[in-house]
Order: sequence, then structure tokens, then C-alpha cells
Amino acid sequence: MKFDRLLVTGGAGFIGSNFIRYILEGFPAVFVLNLDLLTYAGSLENLKDLPAGSKYEFIQGDIGDEALVKDLLRKYDINAIVHFAAESHVDRSISGPSAFINTNILGTFSMLEAARKVWLMEKNMDETNVRFHHISTDEVYGSLIPDAPAFQENTPYAPNSPYAASKASSDHLVRSYNHTYGLPVTLTNCSNNYGPYQFPEKLIPLMILNGLQGKPLPIYGDGKQIRDWLYVRDHCEAIWQVLQFGRLGESYNIGGDNQPTNLEIVGAICTLLDELVPQSPYIPHHNLMQFVTDRPGHDRRYAMNGNKINKELGWAPRHNLQAGLRNTITWYLENTNWISSIQTQKSYQAWLDQNYSRRK
Ligand code: NAD
Ligand code: TYD
Repeated sequence: MKFDRLLVTGGAGFIGSNFIRYILEGFPAVFVLNLDLLTYAGSLENLKDLPAGSKYEFIQGDIGDEALVKDLLRKYDINAIVHFAAESHVDRSISGPSAFINTNILGTFSMLEAARKVWLMEKNMDETNVRFHHISTDEVYGSLIPDAPAFQENTPYAPNSPYAASKASSDHLVRSYNHTYGLPVTLTNCSNNYGPYQFPEKLIPLMILNGLQGKPLPIYGDGKQIRDWLYVRDHCEAIWQVLQFGRLGESYNIGGDNQPTNLEIVGAICTLLDELVPQSPYIPHHNLMQFVTDRPGHDRRYAMNGNKINKELGWAPRHNLQAGLRNTITWYLENTNWISSIQTQKSYQAWLDQNYSRRK
């Protein structure tokens, strides 16, 4: 395999921790160095069950610390960076955008500078021996009207939230480092992920936890917004394919081929909760659904065209929504300690108060 000494940024977050587990379980020869600041969204609880004997190390640190990243690239002889670290929640980007500018734009800039200086300037590396893989989002393309075709890789960028704009900006920086300096990069833009270890500020885990506890299930606006839901394990597989076999300088869209409305997906969660928790006093869980004030600037619809990654690399999602949701709910039911480690944090409760108390 070409790239076997990985620096994973944001590996203590939702997708990053799933990616690290996917690599260490499936490719035990690969070394993984996880650089994560452990913000509210990152936790070492997400990495407790790694296979024994894994080639794995954790460093707590900031992607914006260029000197640190340069040292890590040299000391660990890293040949690929898989860059997940970011502020990732749209609602938080609306109430406090500055962390998004710092981490997503300046942090990515700093990662690129470290890679350019160590790999290109000090070590004279090229695309045959190093790779910078950047993880991005479908939100950079903006919002689709109902019958518009799904986003393709050449769809013009039109980000609508501070989160999406910060990710778009980081994508442009990554692309420019390839074009200007010849830094060997690949990019992936994926749709909404769901699955184990997702922080319960995002729609699916929030609805599962609220449903289990008989709390209201807050639906923004009319609930007819559409997302293209991707099971996280499928996403991890796609990233690995692109890292190893993707074409240099290219971006690949990754979608889940599942495009329900928010009302449909929350309804599906309620039905599964009724089935999987038959003793619950909150059956039917549908009665907990409550319409609340919409998100400002709320994107109506995302959909990904996955033809490029399918044709070039043979990747397609393995999980449909029913199977993925069932796995996800079962995981949350079996991991009550993980849930309480988050629900007992004051900062988590403060976020819920801040985001939901102002919505009618
Ligand atoms: P997350 O919020 O769960 O985790 C982010 C991780 O990055 C956390 O562990 C956090 O501690 C770490 N981090 C934040 N700032 C850091 C810094 N300055 N230095 C080092 N580490 C830092 O995010 P996620 O949902 O796992 O998303 C991962 C990536 O995938 C992000 O780039 C996000 O934009 C992208 N993405 C996510 C989704 C989704 O549905 N979750 C969809 C499309 C794209
Ligand atoms: P989210 O999980 O925050 O992801 P994103 O905004 O990046 O797509 O939200 C997914 C969808 O669910 C989005 O249309 C907003 C909506 N939503 C609600 O209706 N209620 C909620 O409490 C949350 C968190 C999201």
C-alpha cells in the first residue's frame, strides 16, 4: 500500500475516530498518529476500543500550531495527512462564527504550510511518496431547488452558512497549494454522515437521545429540508480508496444515495425506537415531534452525484438508511456510558439551552 504512515487530524471526533478504527481494524500494518485538540467535539472515549497492538499514537495539539505539525511530520516520517479537524456544526457557526474561521481556514492554512515546508522544501518529496487528503462537505455547493440535478464536482461553490463558507475557503486553499506549489493533494466532499460516536448536537443522535428520554424532537421550520445521509463506515471506506488510488489534485463527491426529508428521517427514527425499545413509556415516539423556529439561512436540499468515485474507484455506499439507522440506534442503546459522559457536561447542556430555548 502506498500511504502507510498517516497523520490524522481531528481523529477524536465523530468521523475521524470511525476512520481510525476502520484503518486499524482493516489494515494493521498502517501507523496512525492522531492530532486532536480535544475541543467539546473530541473525546478519547471515542477511541477506547482500538484493536490490541495497534500502531497508534495520540498527540493533543492544535492544527494551527505549524511548528508542532512540522515536528510531527519529521519525527514520525509521515507520508499522508488525512485532514478532518474542523468546527463542524452549522448552528454553532451561526451563533459564533469566529472559531470556524480560525480552525477551518487558518488551521488548514497552517497544515498546508507545514506540509509544504517539510515535504516539499526540506525533503524534496513529490506525489510518488506523500499525499495531503482534505475532508470537506457538500455544503460548499449551496442549496438545491427541488428538481435540480445533484451536486457534481464541477458545480460552482455557493456556500450559505459561515460553516460552509469556511470549508469552501479551506478547499480553495488546498487546491491552490496543489496548483501553485505542486503539493500532492486529494479532496473529498461528503454529505451528512451518521453512525456511532456522533456528538448529539447533530440531527440524528439528538433525536435518538431526546426520544429515549421522552424529550421533544425539535424540527426546524417545516421539516421538508432534504439531506443525503451517508453511513459513516461507508464514508471511511471511500476516503481510504481516494487516499490510496484517487487522482492527484482531484476532488470526489461522496453521498449516501439516501435523500429523505427531515420529517421522514425523524419519523423513521421514531418507528425504530418504538420497535427497539418496546418497554418505553414514550411509544409512539412520533408524538414527541415538535415544529420549532427555523435555522436562519437554512439550506433546503443537498444531493450528491457519486458517479465519479463510482466509475474511477468502484466505490458505492453499502448501507441504506434503514440498515444504517438500525445500527446507529442500536449502538446508542448499547453505549449509555458514552452518552452520559456527554450529557453530564455543563457545556453541552449550555449549548442545548442556547440553541433551543430561543426557538418557539
Ligand atoms: P467533529 O466536530 O465530530 O470532530 C472534529 C474534531 O476536530 C474534534 O475531535 C475536535 O477536537 C477536533 N478539532 C477541532 N479543532 C481542532 C484544532 N484546532 N486542532 C486539532 N483538532 C481540532 O467533526 P466530524 O463530524 O467528525 O467532521 C470531520 C470532518 O468532516 C470535518 O472537516 C467536517 O467539516 C467534515 N464533514 C462532516 C460531515 C458530518 O456530517 N459530520 C459532513 C461533511 C463533512
Ligand atoms: P445537522 O445534523 O445540524 O446537519 P447540517 O446542518 O450540517 O445538514 O442538521 C441536519 C438537518 O436537520 C438540517 O436540515 C437541520 C435539521 N435539524 C432540525 O430540524 N432540528 C435539529 O434539532 C437539528 C440539530 C437539525
